[in-house]
Amino acid sequence: MEKKKPLSDIHVEDYLEEYAGREKTAADAFFTGGRETEALDGLWHYAADPYNTCLRQHWYEARGVNAAGFTLPLDFDFEGWPTMTLPCCWNTAAPEFFWYESTMVFTRRFRYLPKKAGERVFLRVGAANYALRVFLNGRYLGSHTGGSTPAFFELTEALQTENRILLTADASRRPRQVPPENTDWFNYGGVYRELELYRLPGTFIREFFVRLKPGSTDRLLISLRLSDPAEGEAVFSLPEKGVEASLPVSGGTAEAEIPCPVQLWTPEAPKLYDVALRFGEDRAEDRVGFRDIRTEGLQILLNGKPLFLRGVSCHEDAPERGKALTEEDCEQAILEAKALGCNFMRLAHYPHTEKMALLADRLGMLLWEEIPVYWAVRFSDGAVYAEAENQLSELILRDRNRASVILWSVGNENADTDERFSFMSRLAAAARERDGSRLITAACMVSADNRIADRLAEVLDVIGLNEYFGWYSPDLRQLPELFARSRPAKPVIISEFGADALFGHHGTAEDKGTVECQAEIYRRQTAELAKIPCVRGMTPWILYDFRCPRRTHPLQGYYNRKGLVDADRRRRKPAWYVLRDFYEKKKAEE
Ligand code: GCU
Repeated sequence: MEKKKPLSDIHVEDYLEEYAGREKTAADAFFTGGRETEALDGLWHYAADPYNTCLRQHWYEARGVNAAGFTLPLDFDFEGWPTMTLPCCWNTAAPEFFWYESTMVFTRRFRYLPKKAGERVFLRVGAANYALRVFLNGRYLGSHTGGSTPAFFELTEALQTENRILLTADASRRPRQVPPENTDWFNYGGVYRELELYRLPGTFIREFFVRLKPGSTDRLLISLRLSDPAEGEAVFSLPEKGVEASLPVSGGTAEAEIPCPVQLWTPEAPKLYDVALRFGEDRAEDRVGFRDIRTEGLQILLNGKPLFLRGVSCHEDAPERGKALTEEDCEQAILEAKALGCNFMRLAHYPHTEKMALLADRLGMLLWEEIPVYWAVRFSDGAVYAEAENQLSELILRDRNRASVILWSVGNENADTDERFSFMSRLAAAARERDGSRLITAACMVSADNRIADRLAEVLDVIGLNEYFGWYSPDLRQLPELFARSRPAKPVIISEFGADALFGHHGTAEDKGTVECQAEIYRRQTAELAKIPCVRGMTPWILYDFRCPRRTHPLQGYYNRKGLVDADRRRRKPAWYVLRDFYEKKKAEE
């Protein structure tokens, strides 16, 4: 990186050009299960940097003197900046940044002492919204885009004993990002999931995928990919079943099918097995459930048995922490869904923290996971497609050992155009190519002439359908009409229905915004949907009220109030009980 003279930056327009070409993607990801980590969480010095002066003036070089040795006036002072505890969303961590949507600079020091000769050291950032850049000891290591999937940076070459690391996180919303500029949720900014150091051997296990062979109950498929095209032998073990299988590795990969009768995982009996994979000095571990999910005609079958997905949608949005959910926040949401009688949750509209799928595996909850191909994505733009596909790959690599995840959703509520059909069909194919063991879906819209006519349904295993009869489409008689006019040949999940209601705001069932109106809509929606054979699940919108800048009515107060529970995650609205009673009946019918 050539050293710039101070102040020369003010005439440079294309200041980002020098940072191009170092994007970190799914290709840089590695399997993290069972590995020792060193947390870089904690106090980081920070400064808001809406003009990207750090990138323009190379603050990360931390140069205080010029070539002639004269002290320079600096516009930054890393140790003089205030501190913020990472991971977090700056919007909730520092009230003065509640509405801030631009760049924040974070920096800290850390000491590194090698443990093993030849070890490779990596930084994994669980998530940063939206564009992250990493600098170590004055060197630019690369960037990652995508606000909800992990980023991996190798530090090895730039490490010293005493280190200064600097991150820039830019939360700007832009039309050519995924999601695009306009969404119906709050744009939390920050480095908001864990920052961890990993020490790995020269050749390490990059991918480890283990699952039940689709359609079987006693054969496992193991897939392994190493960090480089090495040859040798890997060993897969599942101690509880006395399995110790050797996998010949060629060109850095191995695929194996091994006989292993297992107790199948279900939400009611979420059986998990400890598994391990060894290659050379490296060892990866996981706790995995084995189950089969498929469709047959209009049915969704879990382990060969038809099931109805009694679900609810949820965002990542905790009052005090925003998107930076803790394990307790995740458990609270899953237990609240269980109290409703749910066996299923739609994690909308972006990859939630991996804690959700890990907990869902343990507590027994089926999941729909989704990438934020949301509303008006630039479907004709190749770079936007690459961004969407990369987020899909990063999500699948992160969560594909999770039995709880049964559906990958490639998007939500997109207009049915040729460009969109091509873009999302490619995403569906990419998902199948990376993981043949799950169902592919998307949340589609009802057509203008009230039919299920979205062409994307052709390439989905399960049709997600958002319909708001009784709310945005006031005439609830159109709901039975919709299905009388549609003959879907595959299962349908009603991925959204609902109504706004401020907790404690009362009126008649006709008064929009009252809890009585919301409850009446739930009563009529569930009564109608119960009669429709192709509807094999539903995830009403939504479990909790959530922050939403688009919602300014006094009853909303910058919140979307369609929650069954208030944003405080405590106070349940009457519609909560309507859905709970409906699910109790559905469960009794099983
Ligand atoms: C849409 C969209 C949601 C949104 C909801 C609403 O269907 O998918 O993200 O919050 O409707 O209008 O409340």
